[in-house]
Amino acid sequence: MANDNKLQAIIGHCKEYGFIFQSSEIYDGLSAVYDYGQMGAELKRNIREYWWKSMTQMQDNIVGIDAAIFMHPTVWKASGHVDNFSDPMIDNKDSQKRYRVDHLIEAYAETLEADKGAALIHTMEQLLEANDFAGLKTLIEDNKIKCTVSGTCNWTDIRQFNLMFSTEMGSVADEANTVYLRPETAQGIFVNFLNVQKSGRMKIPFGIAQTGKAFRNEIVARGFIFRMREFEQMEMQFFVRPGTQKEWYEHWKKTRMEWHLKLGIPAERYRFHDHVKLAHYADMACDIEYDFPMGFKEVEGVHSRTDFDLKQHQQYSGKKLTYFDTEINQHYVPYVIETSIGLDRAVMMVLSEAYEEQDLSTAEKQDSRAVLKLPAMLAPIKLAVLPLTKKDGMPELAKDLIEQCKPHFRCFYEEKDSIGKRYRRMDALGTPFCVTIDQQTKEDGTVTIRYRDSMQQERIALNDVKRIVMEKIAMF
Ligand code: GAP
Repeated sequence: MANDNKLQAIIGHCKEYGFIFQSSEIYDGLSAVYDYGQMGAELKRNIREYWWKSMTQMQDNIVGIDAAIFMHPTVWKASGHVDNFSDPMIDNKDSQKRYRVDHLIEAYAETLEADKGAALIHTMEQLLEANDFAGLKTLIEDNKIKCTVSGTCNWTDIRQFNLMFSTEMGSVADEANTVYLRPETAQGIFVNFLNVQKSGRMKIPFGIAQTGKAFRNEIVARGFIFRMREFEQMEMQFFVRPGTQKEWYEHWKKTRMEWHLKLGIPAERYRFHDHVKLAHYADMACDIEYDFPMGFKEVEGVHSRTDFDLKQHQQYSGKKLTYFDTEINQHYVPYVIETSIGLDRAVMMVLSEAYEEQDLSTAEKQDSRAVLKLPAMLAPIKLAVLPLTKKDGMPELAKDLIEQCKPHFRCFYEEKDSIGKRYRRMDALGTPFCVTIDQQTKEDGTVTIRYRDSMQQERIALNDVKRIVMEKIAMF
């Protein structure tokens, strides 16, 4: 399937089966804001859970917190977001449409032959690194890059545009009451560094993890849930002794890639991309990119943030944020390695990898199915229990099995439609196991279990169903 079609097919599938809806759809939607439906909310929760357990429970020295979205406005001054969290933008004078400069050039580069496109991106990256806006505008004009709406090259100068949303706290709307919707969850960790270190008696190296909403007024929001204005991040800040950051940076690059591979996604669908233009806080940084239907794009960042954030907060708050290292008898401001993954992007990655349209036609009949080959541990529904008919005590047996299993994992009961149709629907929802209760069940206590990916069926003991499913959905 062509990539563009695949993205459209996934978007359609997500809506049809209750995974993801456009926000406020009955009012024609709100751009780049999405709601998770009954299936999507479960999938998202399972990915969050897999991340949380991997990054806290399975680590000896990482704890999790849940900081508020609103923070003191000075946090964002100290972090550099008020002054630096902006993207270079350009407007087309004829259509009034605004573009992020890098997106405009990247989209054009994709239409060129591979080597020409790569050369253009390379030039763009150098100009971005040098903050050479005049040079970037010349690059756009020399390449005759056109606005997709007006079709003209009539461009304004390039300007910076801050991406933070602001609102007022309390009843008086003045500067002093302005608060921001956090653009990253990381700052909630930095300002709590000492609280956690002292109350948890943490010894360096240690990490603090959290998941939560972040907000960015993205100008060019596109690619379904890839770039949203309200999204969720899963971030971990790992505090280390200055001078050891290179070693920990490599450690976290490797560890995070292992996390991705454990999702069953083949290694060739990922690549690392080292940053040429480093953020104002970083001395090393890379993206983990996944091959989305739109091509390789960032799903996660691993950043060596130096002591930038803690030092800034120390300066702006006037409070000491140092750590006493008893091994070397020294006070210092720790260095930080950050891992930061977008939860919505992870959902999109998992859906992109899982979605398949299969032609199952035989000489006798045409057939096909849409299937979500989700990792069993992430599937919204783990087990569907299907009585073959509505009589002969089959529904009762099915419901008994669900009662046994539901404290442990999510089950689904369905007695409507032919068994074939019910299997297809479960395939589309990504349910890894279906169990059918039939006449034989009453006679010998066995059921048919059907596996989503292979569509193979086998006869197993009713009493073994719970154990088998639990083994297959275990995260660790
Ligand atoms: N604390 C560092 C930080 O926020 P980032 O590269 O700006 O770094 C980290 O964001 C991750 O958050 C990205 O890799 C991406 O997965 C996700 N992300 C960022 N902006 C997003 C957006 N507008 N919509 C969805 N996910 C986004």
